Amino acid sequence: MGVRDIDPAALGERGAYRLLTSLVVPRPIAWISTLASDGTRNLAPHSYFNVISGDPPVVHFTSSGTKDTLRNVRASGEFVVNVVSRDLVEAMNLTAANFPPGEDEFAWAGLEPAPSKLVAPPRVARARAALECRVHSEITIGDGTMVFGAVVSFAVAGELLDEGAADPPRLDAVGRLGGTGYAGTREVFHLDRPAWDDVRGRD
Ligand SMILES: Cc1cc2nc3c(=O)[nH]c(=O)nc-3n(C[C@H](O)[C@H](O)[C@H](O)COP(=O)(O)O)c2cc1C
Repeated sequence: MGVRDIDPAALGERGAYRLLTSLVVPRPIAWISTLASDGTRNLAPHSYFNVISGDPPVVHFTSSGTKDTLRNVRASGEFVVNVVSRDLVEAMNLTAANFPPGEDEFAWAGLEPAPSKLVAPPRVARARAALECRVHSEITIGDGTMVFGAVVSFAVAGELLDEGAADPPRLDAVGRLGGTGYAGTREVFHLDRPAWDDVRGRD
């Protein structure tokens, strides 16, 4: 394999983004619902998203620049992460358009909101799972502002749950690849994690 060493500085801003987001894959997608100060609902996907802590449960998403989601989160201190299943990808993609502030992406995408249990922003009624979050803190690095959210309530479709976890095929979540690529999670395989003693015992 002829390895190429690439200097990020030589790529320019878009080039580095393009390469980076094609290599850090698949990325889970947080479909984030928020409320503007005037009560307008907002919904937008963020694939710079992951778990920070299990105890207490904390997640993060990153806004590239300042967008409506980040403005709303800063003003209200609350957001909901909706899980994007395969049947919701077209609606999710529509909500990524650059809607002007004041437009309700739920309405444009034909999505029913459902009330959250502990936070004001609604969840997507059709989402199979949602994490209700209160802002913990934020940090800006380069063009990204990373928002940490403490999960204060989980809304999970009962039929997903199997011994306290969501069954991957039933959740049917999608991940983002580079560019316009997406990956499903229907093809699941399992690996038992070895203990040190198992590893050491091998030839
Ligand atoms: C699958 C997907 C993932 C995205 N991930 C991010 C992300 O992590 N951060 C970001 O700032 N924008 C991301 N975007 C773009 C935003 O969704 C888009 O800019 C949107 O218009 C922002 O909406 P808002 O202004 O209502 O917050 C993503 C778009 C798609 C389709």
